[in-house]
Amino acid sequence: MKAWVSHPTPDPAVAVLEAAGLDVQVGGDPAGADGVLAHLIQTVDADFLDRVGPQLQVVANFAVGTNNIDIAACHARSVVVTNTPDVLTAAVAEHALALLLGAAKHVAEGDRMIRAGKWIGWSANQIQTVELRGKTLGIVGMGRTGRELARMAEVALGMNVISSRPLPLQDVLAQADVVSLHVPLKPETTHLIGAAELALMKPSAILLNIARGPVVDEAALAEALAARTIRAAALDVFENEPVVHPALLACENAVLSPHLGSATAETRSAMARLAAENVAAVLLGDGPKTPVSR
Ligand code: GLV
Repeated sequence: MKAWVSHPTPDPAVAVLEAAGLDVQVGGDPAGADGVLAHLIQTVDADFLDRVGPQLQVVANFAVGTNNIDIAACHARSVVVTNTPDVLTAAVAEHALALLLGAAKHVAEGDRMIRAGKWIGWSANQIQTVELRGKTLGIVGMGRTGRELARMAEVALGMNVISSRPLPLQDVLAQADVVSLHVPLKPETTHLIGAAELALMKPSAILLNIARGPVVDEAALAEALAARTIRAAALDVFENEPVVHPALLACENAVLSPHLGSATAETRSAMARLAAENVAAVLLGDGPKTPVSR
């Protein structure tokens, strides 16, 4: 049986697939594959499934988010879909914490200032940063990564945490000093944060997005940042990756990171192993380890 891997994948993905006795093909034509290991930049829709063929049994996403996959189209063809939950929770929450601190402490802006030769030496008021202790962190989407960021912010930073479960989103937006997004991308979460929602946030608030780009209306965010109706935003994901809205690039108060949430060596290797094990388990008849139901 053939396993098709959409893009070069960290160890031990290929080794796990080969140890299961599968012929492995990385990239190229997916036609004839029995199992697919897909990166989040691989669209898996009805067209793709037709190209692969009716023998396909499993699509294992190398990500926890599955918005690149038409799950209904897979299930209609009895193709199992899996993702990589849990193994990336720590890395993603750590990255959210890095974005939080980066925005609050003006890390990238200060770096740019030094490199541009604009640092005039120590001064009491060149850049004013944000103290986080005692401030309120609002988590939108209290899943695995949201809970882990909340724990780290409480323990390490002394922040208070509120969340969209049970509070209405509007209350979280109005009360939080930092709003962090952790929802999956679905039709109902597309542009969850637009002009109206940004207008509810405090002028001193920071917005973090480590979920998926289209959860935020980037044009509306750029306007809010430029007009300083919110203080700052830190983004690991973008509406149209790798293109970033030009108005955002012009905002000194936007911290930008190139979708690195799960990029630690430990996590990428654990994701590679889990995705490959899902392909092998389904093809060998053992059933998926981490199936996605919808
Ligand atoms: C990364 O973005 C993931 O969903 O795993």
